[in-house]
Amino acid sequence: MKILLIGSGGREHALAWKIVQSSRVTKLYCAPGNPGTALLGENIAIAAEDSAGLKDFALKQRIDLTVVGPETPLTLGLVDEFEAAGLKIFGPSRAAAQLEGSKQFAKKIMHKYKIPTAKYEVFDDAQKALEHVYMSRFPVVIKADGLAAGKGVTVAASLVEAKRAINAALKDKIFGAAGARIIIEEFLAGEEASILAFCDGAHFVPLAPAQDHKAVYDGDKGPNTGGMGAYSPAPVVTDEVLRQVRETVFQPLLDGLAREGTPYRGILYAGLMLTADGPRVVEFNCRFGDPETQAVLPRLQTDIIDIFEACLAGKLDTQKIDWTSAAAVCVVLAADGYPGTYEKGREIAGVENAAALPETYVFQAGTARQDGKLVTAGGRVLGVTALGADIRTAIKNAYKAAELISFPGLHKRKDIGQKALARLQ
Ligand code: AMP
Ligand code: GLY
Repeated sequence: MKILLIGSGGREHALAWKIVQSSRVTKLYCAPGNPGTALLGENIAIAAEDSAGLKDFALKQRIDLTVVGPETPLTLGLVDEFEAAGLKIFGPSRAAAQLEGSKQFAKKIMHKYKIPTAKYEVFDDAQKALEHVYMSRFPVVIKADGLAAGKGVTVAASLVEAKRAINAALKDKIFGAAGARIIIEEFLAGEEASILAFCDGAHFVPLAPAQDHKAVYDGDKGPNTGGMGAYSPAPVVTDEVLRQVRETVFQPLLDGLAREGTPYRGILYAGLMLTADGPRVVEFNCRFGDPETQAVLPRLQTDIIDIFEACLAGKLDTQKIDWTSAAAVCVVLAADGYPGTYEKGREIAGVENAAALPETYVFQAGTARQDGKLVTAGGRVLGVTALGADIRTAIKNAYKAAELISFPGLHKRKDIGQKALARLQ
């Protein structure tokens, strides 16, 4: 089979790594890919948002299956375009991807199908939004409606902070059109967990649970990032939590979307707050998580192509999906300054040494090749994943590998996985 993988981050490097393990795959193309995916397949210089270019390429090369990493092409309708051209593609339709593309859409669906989530109001007028927060209990949560690369959410502890966030989105338009409408919602207290599931329109199978670390500094301090590290399994997701999330979130959502005429096929990512009153949905994403994927796929034992095909065929109920009992930890090596401004073009050393350690994988995210050298080219530069018999061992292995890698201005959290250890004690 010829596979086309769309995207260029650490998640896509991990997907590429898993895809080429399939005995059925003869050729992998990545559009546009990164220096990591170039080690596993052929990078093609077509942007993830260039739907016409991607479709032409897939038709010309007779691609058997396309896999979409990032959300933007999905919310733009890439899957609909490929399917209209008779091409097989793994991911939700444009309509179903609005679960991530519009927080208001997600809220409406959740309300309609009684899926537990925070109470909310929608505003496009700064004055009305301010009047609303005057009356609110703090903290309040202010979110851009559209896609804002993980930076559109402010948990405001005070009126001053709330005002700043409202003005930034509605007056200064720092998120552009994505923030022309905002959602103000109640603050949910609890521990966060992500549960992702393969979905075939009617059935779903949860992936091994993982937990992300969104804040840039240790102890969950500092601004939110795309994710500074992840581990799997996540002990916070007990069998009971999983049962509740299956029954109160995934099943009613899939049934509801099918009833709406927009069945969900692909990966559905539920970001949850585990509150004293049970799990509440914080957000939906229409794709694999980054860096959760880098911690989850190394634990997957089943051929991922078989799973993708079962999703497309509506046969997920008969597909076996196995996970190793070993734990995995992924530590993100970022550029100092991220998620704000940071330097690029810094030379990276030690990747091969780290990757040579047993059951250790260095997934590239923000990297580039310059005169044959590997250099930094993004905020999140690398994800170093290691397996271990348990979380404690996996943490040790991941940090041992991460220590072998260096570049000027490298920043990493030193406490990835500690939450899992605390819970296990
Ligand atoms: P989102 O992009 O919607 O996932 O939000 C980013 C982060 O903001 C989440 O991972 C939470 O840490 C936090 N957050 C979002 N909504 C809420 C809420 N209603 N209550 C508490 N924290 C929230
Ligand atoms: N790690 C969070 C996300 O992928 O959205």
